[in-house]
Amino acid sequence: MQIFRTLSEEETEKIGGRLAVSLKGNEVIALSGGLGAGKTAFTRGFCAALGVDDGVSSPTFALVHEYSGKFPVYHFDMYRVTSWDDLYTTGFFDYMDSGILIIEWSENIVEFLPEKRINVAIETVSDNEREIRIEGADRL
Ligand SMILES: Nc1ncnc2c1ncn2[C@@H]1O[C@H](COP(=O)(O)OP(=O)(O)OP(=O)(O)O)[C@@H](O)[C@H]1O
Ligand SMILES: [Mg+2]
Repeated sequence: MQIFRTLSEEETEKIGGRLAVSLKGNEVIALSGGLGAGKTAFTRGFCAALGVDDGVSSPTFALVHEYSGKFPVYHFDMYRVTSWDDLYTTGFFDYMDSGILIIEWSENIVEFLPEKRINVAIETVSDNEREIRIEGADRL
């Protein structure tokens, strides 16, 4: 387990970037934390470090956004996805192993995720402070 504290959105983006550059290209990243924790900010920095130049935003309505950088990145938002059937409908299982899957609100579907994954839990400490716990990644 690695624990980071950040004091701004930019710092959280940077941690996302550090995780991204440590990967091989087929990982599942499970983001958790409440509303406004910084999951999209983390993903933005993550994607930027892989050379994605599209804008990164929460795929709340689309459920998944696809980006292409050093690896394909599939960015999910499971805010409204809570059952296996819903998850199946997003195409989640078809995307596995064809790129990196990075998942906001992963707590909603955690029981369906592969055991081999990287967990990133972001906790809001105060207005601008976040604690980011990363489990299952190489030393960043
Ligand atoms: N240390 C920090 N790290 C990340 N975001 C921060 C930090 N401090 C303040 N913020 C603010 O918190 C908000 C995080 O928003 P973001 O969209 O990334 O959250 P989210 O977890 O994706 O939310 P949602 O569940 O609505 O998708 C932004 O408004 C950002 O400016
Ligand atoms: Mg978000």
